[in-house]
Amino acid sequence: METGTMEKNKQVLLKSRPKGWVSEADFELAEAPIPQPGEGQVLVRNHWLSLDPYMRGRMNDTKSYSAKAEIGEVMVGGTVGEVIETRDPSLKKGDFVVGMLGWQQYGAAPAKAFRAIDTKAVPAQAYLGVVGMPGVTAWVGLLTIAEPKPGETVVVSAASGAVGSVVGQIAKIRGARAVGIAGGPEKCRYLVEELSFDAGIDYKSSSFVRDLEAATPKGVDVYFENVGGDVLEAVSRRFNPFARMPLCGLVSQYNETNPVGLRNLHSFLVNRVKLQGFIVSDKPELWPRALQELASWVASGKIKYRETVAQGLENASKAFIGMLKGENFGKQLVKLV
Ligand SMILES: NC(=O)c1ccc[n+]([C@@H]2O[C@H](COP(=O)([O-])OP(=O)(O)OC[C@H]3O[C@@H](n4cnc5c(N)ncnc54)[C@H](OP(=O)(O)O)[C@@H]3O)[C@@H](O)[C@H]2O)c1
Repeated sequence: METGTMEKNKQVLLKSRPKGWVSEADFELAEAPIPQPGEGQVLVRNHWLSLDPYMRGRMNDTKSYSAKAEIGEVMVGGTVGEVIETRDPSLKKGDFVVGMLGWQQYGAAPAKAFRAIDTKAVPAQAYLGVVGMPGVTAWVGLLTIAEPKPGETVVVSAASGAVGSVVGQIAKIRGARAVGIAGGPEKCRYLVEELSFDAGIDYKSSSFVRDLEAATPKGVDVYFENVGGDVLEAVSRRFNPFARMPLCGLVSQYNETNPVGLRNLHSFLVNRVKLQGFIVSDKPELWPRALQELASWVASGKIKYRETVAQGLENASKAFIGMLKGENFGKQLVKLV
């Protein structure tokens, strides 16, 4: 692509801040000129956009661990794309890079804001999933906070998703028993039959609490928390003494105007449970090791993954809302090229 042409940069902007459930009307499809890269910058054509639950939090006008999205601005988001113009010697035309260019087709940013990726080893879009931020989240939360030992029982919620699927598979690699909680029989079957979890429990089933008990006969030593609400309450009744709970996310609560808190604190006290919230960007020094280990597990087939792909920016907001409702199966992506 030559940047002097009439081609425009399609973008998705934040139009309004949702109260409760996010809707497609909170987004606006817009067009802007393709940016020119400044000195030290590169211009990238995005091939893939990542859709992630944290984006819902960025739409709120509240203080959080990172800046909120602003009304009228491009929605934030991780991207993989191809360098099409460069004004920095560290990246050349044709390089594939992962960055944070947001919900748009093109973006210019300093070369140092990108990481060059090898798309021969794994497909480009996997750098937004299993060998990207969600994979590192699983690795950091499980291995540096929960530290499961062989024979222990690890339970993970949103288990068929981008983070949860990696958590359970690493737990198996470490010799633990992996129990995944997910929505619906198809996702639960996938956990056991394709990802080799020891059990997949459907939290939407009327027998959820009994099924969870049956799947955790020796109690729960690690609960990798992704959802909160009723699922958290049920799992907290199964804690063993000195259980660990990395608090990664609370996706069941992100669209609630009155989110529920921790209902069974007593279990945390009597079982001396370690609960630690964490954000994957807290420890950048761990990323290279995590990424290298994840890549080798993917290459050797020890970690498998699945993707749900929406086509084009015009379908991004619908896919984003669908993901928050569990319509995705594995990592939710938008294909842009
Ligand atoms: N702390 C960090 O640094 C960090 C980094 C990345 C992600 N996260 C968190 O990790 C969690 C998973 O993220 P992800 O990217 O891997 O997303 P994901 O699991 O691929 O997609 C979200 C899933 O959440 C589940 N869900 C939605 N509503 C639910 C409800 N009411 N109850 C139970 N499950 C529900 C759905 O699966 P079902 O069909 O199974 O319901 C949906 O597929 C999120 O909470 C996210 O915020 C945290």
